[in-house]
Amino acid sequence: MTATVLSGRRVVVGVSGSIAAYKAVSLARLLCERGAVVDVAMTPSATRFVGPLTFASLTHRPVVTDVLELDADQQIEHIELAEAADAIVLAPATANLLGELAAGLVGNAVTAIACASRAPVVVAPAMDAGMWTHPATQRNVATLREFGYIVIDPEVGELASGLTGIGRLAEPAAIVDAVERLFVRTGSLEGLSVVVSAGGTREPLDPVRFIGNRSSGKMGAAIAESARDRGASVTLVAGAMSVAPPRGVTVVEATTAQLMREAIIRAAPDADILVMAAAVADFAPARASQRKIKRSGDNLQVELVPNPDIVAEVGEMPDDVRPFLIGFAAESDDLEANAAAKLRDKGLDLIVGNVVGGPFDAIGSDENKVTVFGAEGPLTDWPMLPKRQVAERLWDLIGDRYRRRRTEGDGGPARTKGRRRS
Ligand code: C5P
Repeated sequence: MTATVLSGRRVVVGVSGSIAAYKAVSLARLLCERGAVVDVAMTPSATRFVGPLTFASLTHRPVVTDVLELDADQQIEHIELAEAADAIVLAPATANLLGELAAGLVGNAVTAIACASRAPVVVAPAMDAGMWTHPATQRNVATLREFGYIVIDPEVGELASGLTGIGRLAEPAAIVDAVERLFVRTGSLEGLSVVVSAGGTREPLDPVRFIGNRSSGKMGAAIAESARDRGASVTLVAGAMSVAPPRGVTVVEATTAQLMREAIIRAAPDADILVMAAAVADFAPARASQRKIKRSGDNLQVELVPNPDIVAEVGEMPDDVRPFLIGFAAESDDLEANAAAKLRDKGLDLIVGNVVGGPFDAIGSDENKVTVFGAEGPLTDWPMLPKRQVAERLWDLIGDRYRRRRTEGDGGPARTKGRRRS
């Protein structure tokens, strides 16, 4: 099978009880044909229109029909699926399902998965024309759009009642297109070489111990994944990460600040854009003991020496090799002043600031609330968002600034290096 944007993606298809449930069979088949790993969840009423066995036979995977079911490993199935999903598509979505979703009622497997997951959701309603146009339904659809769900409006045509009107489920191929569009961002980084650092560094004390930090690498991984989907060729310089690096990016492992410095300094001159999302330790033990340090009963003094400031070093590179440079600032207080100082001192083009150590802690979380600063001050006012959505917004902004810099032709760093060197 040739690779598509859906290859290997986990897509959950949620089916509710409309006569159009039979079309969800074609939808599941099309998604499987495009290489997606498809899990089907059904509301109880959906199972009266189509048998779960039909979906299980097509997808070669169990079908979730009961919100109170455990899987073979005694895990809660709908939560497992919610976490594993790269995308959720609810088709057909009945008026009742839209109402439940809008109200946060999670009494069945489909609504429970949609509510528990932070994956993007595509909703394809199907119902009688009177139900679709009712203000309650329209209000629910508006609420779902506010949640960020992508709603594919039903089509006009013959309905199950025999009447003609609006309410027919969109064609399965159109629904697949909408799912694919979640993963393809029209080439905004096409032809560009992007380097992203992610995760934390571990500075060795002895063969088994290190000084490290709680960085999970989730933000950097999301940034790398989003750049890949926008057509960039991506190198991920990976420190210690608690998530797997995205597929389709070149991974360079660099778990100490020194190794990360070597990897970044080597990669930077060929990169168009460098996003330094890694939590690099500012200090490392002056000496790492060759042998495991033994307990002696005495206090142990460890001398720490400063690590190289990698991003600042890249910031000082000559213009013809210096990539467009984005740093991160995790601050416990005075975010704006600290971020502005770092932007200036490290020679960055943009800095992404987030507050750590307060009631919400972005470290390790699946969500983040960031503010991006340029030389002119704060540029964004974004709410708390899933990290993947933060990454999308970051690339919209970075791509824009990068292209603007390039068209301004100021001889600065923002030229396509691949093109220049060819
Ligand atoms: O100064 P501070 O560590 O808060 O700066 C954070 C930014 O600098 C991040 O982008 C981080 O990846 C980068 N950094 C670096 N080298 C270091 C420390 C931080 O590149 N030694």
